[in-house]
Amino acid sequence: MTEEFFSHSGYDTCRIARQFAASLKPGEIISLTGELGAGKTLFMRGVTEFFNCDEQLSSPTFSLFNIYKGSLEGEEVVLHHFDLYRIESLRELEAIGFDEYLSSGDFSFVEWAERFPESSSLYTVAVSLEYAGDESRRIIIKRSVR
Ligand SMILES: Nc1ncnc2c1ncn2[C@@H]1O[C@H](COP(=O)(O)OP(=O)(O)O)[C@@H](O)[C@H]1O
Ligand SMILES: [Mg+2]
Repeated sequence: MTEEFFSHSGYDTCRIARQFAASLKPGEIISLTGELGAGKTLFMRGVTEFFNCDEQLSSPTFSLFNIYKGSLEGEEVVLHHFDLYRIESLRELEAIGFDEYLSSGDFSFVEWAERFPESSSLYTVAVSLEYAGDESRRIIIKRSVR
């Protein structure tokens, strides 16, 4: 199932992300792909807004991995947020516990997922963001049927 959205501002991207987050179930593993500056991190901020995550989301470009705690219908939820931009090898990916976190049953989000095609079958949803003008982005959401 594929959905397509057009965002005309950063605010718009956050709104689309909040709406998207409402459709997710615990255990889902979401890839976020797109060029530098396409809006992957901003999309993630919209997701953390939906789950009322306490921690302020800073740009994860300088860190590899963040964990956010939030809530859904009164229950605590945990979000894992990876940025694989600086991960150089599968060994390094293993060392940060990537597979364990992904199979934890929590929500996982992975920026630069395309760097490790070996893991592509793990994703339940693929979100890609493409430039479509200065402040415009095309957002494509593909759900795998499993
Ligand atoms: N429609 C839009 N959607 C997302 N970001 C946008 C949009 N228009 C402008 N921007 C800007 O593009 C940048 C996206 O940054 P970021 O989310 O960190 O990208 P990425 O994580 O993909 O590298 C931000 O500075 C944001 O303000
Ligand atoms: Mg980013």
